[in-house]
Amino acid sequence: MRDKNVLVTGGAGFIGSHLCEELLKGNKVICVDNLSTGNCKNVEHLMVNENFKFIEHDVSKPLNLKGRVDFIFHLASPASPIDYQKLPIETMMANSLGTLNILNLAKEKHSKLLLASTSEVYGDPEEHPQNESYWGHVNPTGPRSCYDESKRFAEALAFAYQRIHGVDVKIARIFNTYGPRMRKNDGRAIPNFVTQALNNEPITVYGNGKQTRSFCYVSDMVEGLIRLVESEFFDVFNLGNPDEMKIIDVAEKVKGMVGSKSDMVFRSLPKDDPVRRKPDITKARKKLGWKPRTGFEEGLGKTIEWFRSIH
Ligand SMILES: NC(=O)c1ccc[n+]([C@@H]2O[C@H](COP(=O)([O-])OP(=O)(O)OC[C@H]3O[C@@H](n4cnc5c(N)ncnc54)[C@H](O)[C@@H]3O)[C@@H](O)[C@H]2O)c1
Repeated sequence: MRDKNVLVTGGAGFIGSHLCEELLKGNKVICVDNLSTGNCKNVEHLMVNENFKFIEHDVSKPLNLKGRVDFIFHLASPASPIDYQKLPIETMMANSLGTLNILNLAKEKHSKLLLASTSEVYGDPEEHPQNESYWGHVNPTGPRSCYDESKRFAEALAFAYQRIHGVDVKIARIFNTYGPRMRKNDGRAIPNFVTQALNNEPITVYGNGKQTRSFCYVSDMVEGLIRLVESEFFDVFNLGNPDEMKIIDVAEKVKGMVGSKSDMVFRSLPKDDPVRRKPDITKARKKLGWKPRTGFEEGLGKTIEWFRSIH
């Protein structure tokens, strides 16, 4: 992508800030964020670039922008279980009213829009691995429902805008992504393990640790998001890394790579925590020519290095 005007909502967050950085290699970027779970520090280094503009704004309120907007990445939403359970109503507003406002903007500006959805739309899946045709197994009122159900609503709304107004929408169902700029205390497995290991504190594993996740390094995710928004498809794509790992093995790997003396402690599994999670990325591989390229050790090494630097 070159010489385009691009809007990134949630651009001061973890994935959004890496996306802004990549897009700035040849484009103008407007980053909109209300800083509820993101931080200006994530984009501080971009502020000096004349092609970068930061607007503090809550997307659940209408957004007026002057001029051309060629592409929109709509990422604004709390994303970690700790954040969305602390901000359940704000999460639902960001994904419902926020998505409505951004769809209206895309309609007005004839922009290509990528909606950041999530593997959580599959809930605690009864099919494994999950491919895009699986409708999911979601508790509509449980503690994660504010996130899962509002992302499902956002997907449905995006499809309605595509069908009724012809808005060019692409949906990325993002699976666990990790890398520098995650917050120490955001409750997700990798930042938790790395922070505890660096402090030589007990590493907290939920359940028996045999539940699985698959982790995608952030630069691979950014590449997938850009490929998807540039594609000609009005469709849903899983983006993630299909290498499935047991959580206990991830904890051991982190401990080993940090060189930590931490012990493992086991705590009960949070309610509705999915037991297995692995994307089927056949569609993204075939239609977008995308697959993750960063090995787990390589990505974890860069992530540990970053957490050490802020330690
Ligand atoms: N990181 C992952 O593993 C993962 C997995 C699945 C889906 N996603 C999706 O990717 C997107 C980015 O996630 P992230 O991990 O970077 O999370 P993050 O919390 O670091 O970033 C989200 C950003 O959105 C901003 N935001 C929240 N509500 C807003 C609002 N109403 N108006 C404007 N800005 C608002 C926050 O301040 C933050 O900067 C989210 O939509 C999330 O649902 C992420």
